[in-house]
Amino acid sequence: VSDQRTSNLIIFGFTGDLSKRKLFPALYHLMLDGLLDKHFEIIATTRRDVDLEKFKKELKGFIEDNNDNKCDDLVLDNLISNVKLLRMDVSNPDDFNILQKTLETQDVACSVGHTRLFYFAVPPIMFSGIISSMVGVGLHKSSDAPNRLLIEKPFGHNLQSAQELCDLMGMHFEEDSIYRIDHYLAKDTVQNLLHVRFFNMIFRQVWNQESIESIVITAIESIDIQGRSGFYEHTGALRDMIQSHLLQVLALVTMEQPKDFEVESVREKRLKALKGLRLVDIGTAKRGQYQGYRFEVGNPESVVETYAELNVRLMSDEWSGSMDLPPVAFKLRAGKALDHKEASIVITFRDHSIPNILIITMQPEEGFHLKIATRKPGLDNNQTEMINLSYHYDQTEEEKHEAYEKILLDVIKGDQTLFPSSEEVLTNWRLIEPVLKYWRDNSHGLAFYEKGSSLPIK
Ligand code: BG6
Repeated sequence: VSDQRTSNLIIFGFTGDLSKRKLFPALYHLMLDGLLDKHFEIIATTRRDVDLEKFKKELKGFIEDNNDNKCDDLVLDNLISNVKLLRMDVSNPDDFNILQKTLETQDVACSVGHTRLFYFAVPPIMFSGIISSMVGVGLHKSSDAPNRLLIEKPFGHNLQSAQELCDLMGMHFEEDSIYRIDHYLAKDTVQNLLHVRFFNMIFRQVWNQESIESIVITAIESIDIQGRSGFYEHTGALRDMIQSHLLQVLALVTMEQPKDFEVESVREKRLKALKGLRLVDIGTAKRGQYQGYRFEVGNPESVVETYAELNVRLMSDEWSGSMDLPPVAFKLRAGKALDHKEASIVITFRDHSIPNILIITMQPEEGFHLKIATRKPGLDNNQTEMINLSYHYDQTEEEKHEAYEKILLDVIKGDQTLFPSSEEVLTNWRLIEPVLKYWRDNSHGLAFYEKGSSLPIK
């Protein structure tokens, strides 16, 4: 825990949605579990006046709503008392002098330098400006403890801007100090994928094109864009969910076994899988927009998709098919304002009229469900029925931790395994770039669906 004692979290975008919904609840839980030192300091940059008491009340409400009405007031008080508000405008390079001075004073106050965790909870369009301003006041140079950058997705807006951002960051920061957040990689079931695949003989033998027919990865939500018009109009479902979360999950589902579970080995195999992905046929990429979206964002002409679907193939010995076998079909789909919340990986095995199906659920609950064929019980029938072998994470005695807790702990520890490398991110952009272009150049093909519709979106 020694590293944790000397960490400072500097938040760009404190008043945003992410801060209240993900970051602070995670900090609260880490503190509750004794995983954050009580001197862990948080510097929250803000342009506006912020009433911390009001923020605390809202946070308490949020924690209670998501935690069976439980919130330890002492822990919450402690957490909030560690927040130092810093009035500055992150779009103004001059204001970074204020931040620089504050951090310097802090370093002097504590005889050792703090590990500085710079958390970018701001729209992607602001990333490069903030980085240049940090460099302008020398904040890229580490004091006697490392600087780490936590960057929310999407990393860039397209291949070119992602490449530019990589270049800019690469000029001033080492790759091992850049943590590109993909919270799907920190979900328990997603982390468990490699264990299930590689430590079980029954799966290791059948995890290939001989046995698997298709893999569908879905992340649909019942909520709409929840007022995030600015962000969403610039993003859309393909960039928001598929470019990052779903492709990274697909990489874990299909990658070769790494020689160990160290960051380099895992990243290398994930990257290899991502590099092998090809779009099936651009015309099969689908997009939809829920009715009322245009009014909500105040843009009557918007063609931004709130639903996206991609079909891909993976070029490799295990997945691309052979003379006698068709390639494994991969489908990725994500959308908002649909009839239920579900994030899942559905693996359908080949063969027979009633195939085995393995369903791995990531939302709303995490678990594994395997459908196997059995003889229907009874005296005189020989009918086959599918039964469900299920495991829910909720059944374990272990306390559940949200993905953001894992993310923060890993950044404090300096473990990058669950964070995509720059090459992974660029490879994902390379794959979806033609779709973005195709959709931009072809205004047709946007389906409108009613809020609360079910899949498939026609
Ligand atoms: C975020 C997206 O990365 O993931 C949001 O920006 C989306 O639009 C969220 O709602 C979904 O995450 P989860 O963990 O609730 O499935």
